[in-house]
Amino acid sequence: MKKKGLWLSLALTFSLALTGCNSDSASKNTSGSGGEKGKEKLEIFSWWTGAGEEDGLKALIKLFQEKYPDIPVENAAVAGGAGTNAKAVLASRMQGNDPPATFQVHGGAELNAGWVAAGKMEPLNDLYEKEGWMDKFPKSLIDMVSKDGKIYSVPVNIHRGNVLWYNKKIFDENGLQPPKTFDEFFQVADKLKAKGITPLALGDKEPWAATHIFETVLLGTLGVDDYKKLWTGELSFDDAKVKEAVNTFKKMLNYINEDHSSRNWQDAAQLVAKGEAAMNIMGDWVKGYFVNDLKLKVNEDFGYVPTPNTDGQFMVITDTFGLPKGVKNPDDVKKFLAVLGSVEGQDAFNPLKGSIPARIDADVSKYDEYGKATIEDFKTAKLAPSLAHGSAAPEGFVTKVNQAVNIFVTQKDVKSFIDTLVSASAELKK
Ligand code: GAL
Repeated sequence: MKKKGLWLSLALTFSLALTGCNSDSASKNTSGSGGEKGKEKLEIFSWWTGAGEEDGLKALIKLFQEKYPDIPVENAAVAGGAGTNAKAVLASRMQGNDPPATFQVHGGAELNAGWVAAGKMEPLNDLYEKEGWMDKFPKSLIDMVSKDGKIYSVPVNIHRGNVLWYNKKIFDENGLQPPKTFDEFFQVADKLKAKGITPLALGDKEPWAATHIFETVLLGTLGVDDYKKLWTGELSFDDAKVKEAVNTFKKMLNYINEDHSSRNWQDAAQLVAKGEAAMNIMGDWVKGYFVNDLKLKVNEDFGYVPTPNTDGQFMVITDTFGLPKGVKNPDDVKKFLAVLGSVEGQDAFNPLKGSIPARIDADVSKYDEYGKATIEDFKTAKLAPSLAHGSAAPEGFVTKVNQAVNIFVTQKDVKSFIDTLVSASAELKK
């Protein structure tokens, strides 16, 4: 697709999303601080506001300000999990040639098929050379932020998406083991249901949270190799394995809380924290939320296992920041990116965020039991790109899948869901 056409379709996708967002949750959390008067602000754009989300970012900004007290920083975060609202605000700003100095973007298709293909990003190979980063980030990650040999952003973290969190007390009191397979999941879920305990907490007020579960079911059913073939078009969405995954997902929906559509991801995780539900399938930003905000203890109050059938597999979500074309203070942006990509920056951010450092040489002692185990798992696991979090497929496709999943959660019509996935997959060939 030509640049202009791609650009229009990106803007349309995002502005559709914006129309649907309420002004409350889309409110900007702009807070400027420090720096010389009259100097261009370094505007850092993300969706990290509120519980479980903002602590890591604040620690990173603090570190940057200690190093560069003369550069004023503006934290321009827009609330809404997985960028529900931020992405739409970003698109309209990019369209109006008013980019933030730097913005949160997932490595993979969201960056490469989105902003890079639209010609909106500056390459950062010189920064990687200068900072000696080429062998400090895993090659798999550098590939996710590169297109045609040029590197376009700096990963601040690696989140794991395929995690099942569970309430330890509920499991212990009921003599249950965390499920490793789908069969075990349903056995455990039936026992919990019989006791009047909600087995699985879901908060899909923002529909991506249900897509998040669905992608882990796809991974657990197809395995990494076939899962990846979905995004290259080598495996069709009407394949028997996909149907099997959709049926499993449908069955899982029999075990969720009734008020799922009025909760966001934090509200759902909270059900598990309070013992009102037993399990939650969500990325490991939940750990940041449990530990920082709810003061829960890892492996005491809550436990974690890979989602059913995904042991040895790692659904990769990486938050990255780049340099948009046309910003007024590119040198300041590069200074920020250099801090974000440093060992110190990564170790300020990730222990609080729940993610692991993107760098291979970070200080492991700064991470808790969960972080240490995840750092180890990442080294040996088979990696799979997340769909719900922008790496596997372009934004246009993700938006359509989110809409389809949202309908499926209430209607549970397998055929119509598969048909929609098949027709949406035309987006993958663009
Ligand atoms: C993801 C993002 C995470 C976390 C999560 C919930 O897309 O990569 O860092 O913020 O959304 O908002």
